[in-house]
Formats: sequence, C-alpha cells, structure tokens
Amino acid sequence: MSASPKKVRVSTLRRMKAERRRITMVTAYDAITAALAEAAGLDVILVGDSLGMTALGLPTTLPVTLDMMLHHAAAVARGAVTPLLVGDMPFMTYKVSPEQALANAGRMIQEGSMEAVKIEGGKEMAPVVERLVEAGLPVMGHIGLLPQSIHAQGGFRVQGREAGEAERLEAEARALEAAGIFALVLEAMPTGIAERITRAVAIPTIGVGAGPACDGQVLVTTDLLGLTDKRIPKLARPYAHLFDDAVKALRAYAEDVRQGRFPGPENTYGE
Ligand code: KIV
Repeated sequence: MSASPKKVRVSTLRRMKAERRRITMVTAYDAITAALAEAAGLDVILVGDSLGMTALGLPTTLPVTLDMMLHHAAAVARGAVTPLLVGDMPFMTYKVSPEQALANAGRMIQEGSMEAVKIEGGKEMAPVVERLVEAGLPVMGHIGLLPQSIHAQGGFRVQGREAGEAERLEAEARALEAAGIFALVLEAMPTGIAERITRAVAIPTIGVGAGPACDGQVLVTTDLLGLTDKRIPKLARPYAHLFDDAVKALRAYAEDVRQGRFPGPENTYGE
C-alpha cells in the first residue's frame, strides 16, 4: 500500500527553497480542478481571481467580488487536501486599510477554507501584510504585472523593462519579505530580474512569465490544460488540448443521440 502524500504547509515551501526543490503551483476554481491538482501531486493550489476570466466569462479580474471567491474557494477545499491552499484576495478587498484586509482575509480562511491568502502589490502593502501575519494569517505576495492594477500599469504588459525597474522590483520584494510574506509570485518580468530577486530573498519566489530561475512556477490551469477557446498567453504552455477534445466528445454524443445509437443496452435498466 502506498503512503498517502504529506500535507504541504507554508514551512514545506521554505524547506523546498533551502533544498533547491522546485515548487509546483496551479490555479483551481472548483472541486474537480482541485481534485486534478491533488491527483497530479501539485504542491500548491491557488484559487486565483483569474477565475473571473477563466470560469465566469468576465473581461478582467476587476469585477470579481469576495463572495464570488468564497464560493469557489470552498469548492476547491472540498476537492483537495494535500496541496497548500491559497486564496487570492480580489480587487479592493484589502487596500482600504489593514483592518479591512484582516476582516476580509479572515473570511477567506474561515468561509473559504483556505490556508493562506495572496495579495497583489509592492512595499505599500507592507502594513497590510504585517497586520495579517500578526493575526496569524499566512500571506503570499505578488509583484510585477498586477492584473488588478491594469489601468495603472497600462494593460497586461511585461514589467521591469524601464531603467531603474530592476532595483524597484527588488526593493518591493525585500520590503514584502521584511513585512512577513511566506512566498512571492513574480509575474511577467524579464528572467534576469526574477533571478536577481530570487537570490536576494530567503522566501521562495514563484514565477509566471518570469523565467526558470524562480524557486517554483505557477500556471493558470485552463491554459495548462488547453481548456479554453481563448488565446493562450506566451507565458503558458498547453500540456493538453481539452477544449478541442471536449468539443469532439460532445459532437460524438449529439450525433449518437440523433442516429439512435445512444443510449445502448449497457446504459439502460431492465424491468
Ligand atoms: O489569479 C491568478 O490566477 C494569479 C496567478 C496567475 C498568479 O494571480
């Protein structure tokens, strides 16, 4: 009998960085995508606010509310037990004040059954991180391209290409580490900057479009599985084409129904 996999915790990630073992992280949005990540042995599941675009058909992550996130987070928690479960704090649920952030992050842990929260932003978020950590809530940071700040950043653009940006991003990472984050997502930045940050901080960095030097990688599951009819961004690699496979299966089913081939005797009940 094979031993059941060991629960991944915040301390596991720290150890993995020290032992130079790369961290694997994917997004999940419901119990079935969580069960897939669990079965595949991923280390971390992020209930990303990307669910606004991938699961709810919204144009950006900005309309995603805390109640939407809690509904999906609780479903994810019912689908996976081994990976560390991180809930993304959606737009404007943590930037008003550290107290607002604490109340909302508390709901993510209590009602969403998450084990940690992720917030976007640099050193201006340090007081929020400090308040959450002081209250016993583990926080993952996120710098570089910030989907919740696309209007300020000028769209979905690679960050860190302007003069002085490498220094700024490294300073943001250091400030967040000092405030108490346990890991840091680096999104859409040149490989060299992500490498510099990864060397500068003791906490693990998790890259998405930030090159191979990060301590781990995260991808949006629907991109990774090709479970979308939308363009897959350059930073992702589709390891399957489940959208096309699903359309083929649905067409085959519809044709069988039309031709009277489904249901067959194996699908029917006797008297
Ligand atoms: O919402 C999300 O899916 C994310 C990841 C891309 C890091 O923030």
